[in-house]
Amino acid sequence: MTREAHPFTGRPIPRTEAGLKVSGAITYAGDVVLPGLLHAVLVPSPIARGTIRSADTTAAAAVPGVVRVFTPGTMPRLVSPPEQPDWDIMYGSAFVPMADATIHYAGQPIGLVLAETLEAARHAAAIVRYAFDEDVPCVGLEGDADLSGEAWHEPEQVWLGFLAGHLPGAVRRGDAAAALSHAEVTIEGRWTLAYNHHNPMEPAASVAVWEDGDRLTLYETSQHVANHRNGLAKVLGLPRENVRVVAAYVGGGFGCKGPVWSHSWLAALAAREVGRPVRLVLSRAQMYTSVGFREEQRIDLALGATRDGRLVGAAVTKLSATPAWEDWVEPSWYPFTFLYDLPALETRCRLRRANVMAPTFMRAPGEAPGMLVQECALNELAAELGIDPIDLRLRNHADAYPVDGSPCSSKRLKECYRVGAERFGWPQRRPEPRTMREDGLLIGIGMASASHTVYRQPARARVTITAGGTAHVAASATDIGTGTATFMRQLAADALALPIDAVRALIGDTGLPEAPMQAGASLTGSLAPAVMEAARDLTARLLGMAAGQEDGPFHGRGTDDLRLEDNRIVARDGASETVAAVLRRAGLTELSCEGRFDPGGPGQVRTGEPERDARAGPRGMHSFGAIFARVAVDPDLGMIRVRQLTGVYAGGRILNPKLAESQLIGGITWGMSQALFEATHMDPRFGRFTNTNLAEYMIPVNLDVPVIDVTFLDDPDPFINPAGVKGVGEIGITGVAAAISDAVWHATGKRLRSTPILAEALLED
Ligand code: MOS
Repeated sequence: MTREAHPFTGRPIPRTEAGLKVSGAITYAGDVVLPGLLHAVLVPSPIARGTIRSADTTAAAAVPGVVRVFTPGTMPRLVSPPEQPDWDIMYGSAFVPMADATIHYAGQPIGLVLAETLEAARHAAAIVRYAFDEDVPCVGLEGDADLSGEAWHEPEQVWLGFLAGHLPGAVRRGDAAAALSHAEVTIEGRWTLAYNHHNPMEPAASVAVWEDGDRLTLYETSQHVANHRNGLAKVLGLPRENVRVVAAYVGGGFGCKGPVWSHSWLAALAAREVGRPVRLVLSRAQMYTSVGFREEQRIDLALGATRDGRLVGAAVTKLSATPAWEDWVEPSWYPFTFLYDLPALETRCRLRRANVMAPTFMRAPGEAPGMLVQECALNELAAELGIDPIDLRLRNHADAYPVDGSPCSSKRLKECYRVGAERFGWPQRRPEPRTMREDGLLIGIGMASASHTVYRQPARARVTITAGGTAHVAASATDIGTGTATFMRQLAADALALPIDAVRALIGDTGLPEAPMQAGASLTGSLAPAVMEAARDLTARLLGMAAGQEDGPFHGRGTDDLRLEDNRIVARDGASETVAAVLRRAGLTELSCEGRFDPGGPGQVRTGEPERDARAGPRGMHSFGAIFARVAVDPDLGMIRVRQLTGVYAGGRILNPKLAESQLIGGITWGMSQALFEATHMDPRFGRFTNTNLAEYMIPVNLDVPVIDVTFLDDPDPFINPAGVKGVGEIGITGVAAAISDAVWHATGKRLRSTPILAEALLED
């Protein structure tokens, strides 16, 4: 009986940790228990701007069980504060709280209490008494009529931490102003997008434990343990080898657990100071002010076209706020640079300093807001010109990468439209709005393109086969719900011809071969080739060892006569021997090989600097898709229900359709959430977010979400990496809000350019 080439890869193998997760058996970072563990609780600033005049810790320190109360005056200092940008380490922000008395934003840590119990620490944190000199905060975009005034600045470059690169703050392609002035039709609009917060189920947590005062182990909620190791080593002034970071399981990240934030080093500093392990878990409310967010943004767009629907040019201006000490800009104009054949483009971003914490990457950074605006505008243009939205996109399809005209590595976008239209039932759509009704409800349908850039990062992995008939596959990668452990096992089991249950994955520990950040939907595509190489080399070494053993049954045979099968080495004529016997003869109990993936240069650097990609050949590397939505709107109440969501994706080779579908269902739900639910509200009087909890930060619940139909086109892309994987972690969110927004217009005749789209806005005249 011969084995199939890939019995596990490509199949819907269940998630490795599924049983542990649903039974509550997983130990997350914040669950780690150590002898002598102290509980830490942060004191957040209630004011958004001002100075601490005094801090009185008497009452807090007297609470039974309290071990220490730190304030800015008594908190130990960092050896070297983080810098932004740092080419080597991704920090969430350069800001160091508890270093002086100045308050820059509400929620800024101004105290840290250590106690024997969480209850004591919480209580004590609530009764540290501060006196402030309070100033009027500057927040958000609200009420600032003069957008061209001096309050605004334009950064020359935008920092992209996980790519260790910059992109220009402004993009110029052709003469956009001239193109727009000659355009036969122009769509002009202002889109406003609310603040969004990542809100992973598992809040950020650090457990810090020191040995001999100079070796730190940090159990951390991390999308990239090596980054946390490097970041902590630098600020604490330690050699990297003195820091070990462990993130065995992660309960969601969405971007906020990639960078190093201050809670991690505060826990480490406190633990060293008192000589005991310290656990710091952020409260849900503190998650809104401690680990970044997606900034509130206003995007002004002018999009010009000919009467027959050919795009001629676009101008995009983005406004947002940034903290006092650094610039952060989500590159929301980015999708305009690559998705359509757009001959002229001019983008700007304008920033205002405000009393906010630094925003950061969140769920398809750049692409989630950018695709919303671009795809909404295309749908408005389609309506204006009387052209079917799919047809309009086909007329502007970019056959090559628009940045430099190089070929795309692979692009099956047209097929996504076709398959999606068929599965969804697009032809039933009547072009005119308010023409479809059911049971007294207004029905609307809409669509949009989806796309996400492919990023590639260097990665290493190790595969080990043991005399006990098992194997393990190891890399420092974290699994934030994406299925990292599962695909690693699938690939290793196939390469070693072992049952999948015989293969374990070891992940989430800096002691393992270094894998890159679980971010940018890039980990699978970067790590899979490293695992494949390690397993291939291991197989070759093992077979070579068998063929070379003079006292073994395969002596003198060529290795191409041998193969692995169910823990045996098997020759073509049927001769066989166990792996254990070969290892024993060599005096070994196990054998390991390491593999690596190196994209060869900085990988896919975002637009504007294609010359930075040292590789020849295609430069436009993206996943593509098409998303279709049907909504029902109550004409009296304005209530919007999403009834159908259909997405078709060309996202490279799919290693595990079950987990990939789950990524897309999650991503599409994010998109629905962006369209109709998610907003963090800022009270401009106090500079405080008002809905810092999961009850009032609206997200869709099961009752809101229809059955989501996800289809993958067969799309292996060997240019991108030897695994053919493009990555599907973030494309799901893109385009969804535009498809839903157009469906709402189609149902009601109302164009709403503000997300989330609310029932009350629909009812306004
Ligand atoms: Mo994702 S925002 O790239 O972690």
